[in-house]
Amino acid sequence: MIQLQALSKGYTERKKVLDHISLELKKGEFLYVLGGTGAGKSTLLRLLATEEEDFGGQLSLFGYDLARASGSTLQAIRRSIGYVPQNVRLIPDFTVFENVALGVSLAGSRVARAEVRGKIYELLDRLQLMNLRDASASRLSGGEAQRVAIARALARGPELLIADEPTGAQDFQNTWNVMDLLHRANISGTTLVLATHDRDIVRKLRKRCAILSHGKVMIEEALCSL
Ligand SMILES: Nc1ncnc2c1ncn2[C@@H]1O[C@H](COP(=O)(O)OP(=O)(O)OP(=O)(O)O)[C@@H](O)[C@H]1O
Ligand SMILES: [Mg+2]
Repeated sequence: MIQLQALSKGYTERKKVLDHISLELKKGEFLYVLGGTGAGKSTLLRLLATEEEDFGGQLSLFGYDLARASGSTLQAIRRSIGYVPQNVRLIPDFTVFENVALGVSLAGSRVARAEVRGKIYELLDRLQLMNLRDASASRLSGGEAQRVAIARALARGPELLIADEPTGAQDFQNTWNVMDLLHRANISGTTLVLATHDRDIVRKLRKRCAILSHGKVMIEEALCSL
């Protein structure tokens, strides 16, 4: 599903944030991306979410080499990805419900409207957002906005979910609500790439880890011994 070969990315001539990184992720896998602040986690996740065009090496998603993918292939790839960025971006004039529904329509889903509505309500309920469904996104707290972004990414039922510190702004209860949802999505087949600083999560839910440091990646299989 994801293949990186000698992938490099730098923002300046001098320093490469990612320096010839190679990594493979199969369909249905769950991968943590770990590393200190500034290690390049968000850079890697943005690359996987096709939000960065300028990089060295090879990046393949769903079997397509991104550098060679046509516009329509790239669109199809993007429709199959749910991305929760570290700095969430909601449409401020839209309500919570509308922001989440937008994730579905942008994904080009043809699922019946009632079904979509039901699915969105279920997500909002699990993320403790039901009472805010008609609130304007502009009035949300940081944690609430982050949960809306998570609901939006999940609502489209993505094949690949890329979540950048999705619990970074959550309290204990909401952290585990979010993790429960992400874990369920993974169990039902969604491939998951999750960047986090939260050692409790990594300890409780042990999965393969990609640890970034000084531009390189170290893979720890199955057990992540943080
Ligand atoms: N647009 C940019 N222009 C220049 N430098 C950047 C840019 N984005 C990131 N960087 C730099 O690249 C490095 C990696 O940043 P990145 O955001 O990927 O780290 P991170 O591991 O996600 O950190 P954190 O845990 O703080 O979120 C940092 O040194 C950062 O300053
Ligand atoms: Mg980051």
